[in-house]
Amino acid sequence: MSSSHVAEVAEPASFAFDAASLAEIETILKRYPPERKASAVIFLLYEVQKQMARHTNSGWVPQVAMDVVAEVLDMAPIRVYEVATFYTMFNLKPVGRYHLQVCTTTPCWLRGSDDVVAACFKKTGLSHFGEVSADGLFSMAEVECLGACVNAPMMQVNNESYYEDLDGPRTEALLDAFRRGEPPAAGPTIDRLGSQAEGGPTTLTHAGEFWSPEKYAVVKRERAEAAERAAAEAAAAEAAAQAAAAANPPPADPAAKPGA
Ligand code: FES
Repeated sequence: MSSSHVAEVAEPASFAFDAASLAEIETILKRYPPERKASAVIFLLYEVQKQMARHTNSGWVPQVAMDVVAEVLDMAPIRVYEVATFYTMFNLKPVGRYHLQVCTTTPCWLRGSDDVVAACFKKTGLSHFGEVSADGLFSMAEVECLGACVNAPMMQVNNESYYEDLDGPRTEALLDAFRRGEPPAAGPTIDRLGSQAEGGPTTLTHAGEFWSPEKYAVVKRERAEAAERAAAEAAAAEAAAQAAAAANPPPADPAAKPGA
């Protein structure tokens, strides 16, 4: 990564971990012997990205933050740059509140990822991968196989949530929900659980069997209720994190070093 690249994307002047990140980092560092704490570099880069999302609605890793990670872990900054630039889950420039990582590898492509990409462009107003929408809500990245080919085509959102069995209209509906601030539960967007047959089991269908249609209906209802609870909890946790971030801004001294 060249410094000129960084300069192009409006690097913040400084970065310091906030109270929530420092608490999490303390927990992370307990997993490693002090002389091996450099092994935590990926997790600290994740903390940077999550904190940036909390404070700016854009989860990315500025170079000044990599320098702070290097200082916390007693590493040469170049070693942190090497990790951050190797893995595609680290965004090296600002992204949207919803970062859409669309898989276009062969199985997803054969199952219609072109329609998913077209729907994303249409609904977000973006014209190419890597762009951020004017309202800061969306950005798009083209990614290689994310290991969910059996539910192709799919896309991942914000490095976490897999939305599967997409097509053009279902992708548009998904993005409408994001725009309303109502992200649906992750998973298949058609009537199936996990990677089971659409509409329920097609084998072992006798009443009382483990995957009988009756049990399928019960499990489906329980999953939907659990997803609703998880979405409500996630919304509450995000609101609490944003309130905590507002109440506890990053310390003035960017050289704060937990666990050092
Ligand atoms: S090809 Fe898209 S998840 Fe595997």
